[in-house]
Amino acid sequence: MPEPWNLKRARAIAAAQRRAGATAVPLLAALAAAFGRLGEEAVDLLVETLGVDRFSARGLMLFHRDVREHAGQPHAIRVCRGERCRARGCEALGDRIAMRLGVPWYGRSADGRWSFVPVYCQGMCDHGPTACVDDIPFPRLDAIGADGLVDLMEAIDRDHGG
Ligand code: FES
Repeated sequence: MPEPWNLKRARAIAAAQRRAGATAVPLLAALAAAFGRLGEEAVDLLVETLGVDRFSARGLMLFHRDVREHAGQPHAIRVCRGERCRARGCEALGDRIAMRLGVPWYGRSADGRWSFVPVYCQGMCDHGPTACVDDIPFPRLDAIGADGLVDLMEAIDRDHGG
């Protein structure tokens, strides 16, 4: 049974996770295990703990929630190859994601749960390079963010026996 949100306890969980080397995914999983559905207060904690901005923290949290609630369903990763994202290095980031996932551009994972789809604009051109996982946008993607996305997907696969 999840307990009510408690900032002191949430900080203790976050500190323990960080000491163990955890990134956003296991940290979110630990918080969700303790408190159930996470709200805006968890965004503040992610900003404080991970040093990310609020936009990124909110995206991570929404993504984590969304994929858990749609566990077992197929997911699409869309990396923008539009001109403006291309000028900001989307090709290398897409190649990095493809290599880490073992799924080529236009490809699908062996279990059919993940497809990797290029798109040619996602309407976030000023914030490129961009990616979307299902309907969750990930603007200003860099190598660390791309690795974080893959880590998140791998953790979800593990959580749900993929
Ligand atoms: S060119 Fe990539 S979002 Fe528009």
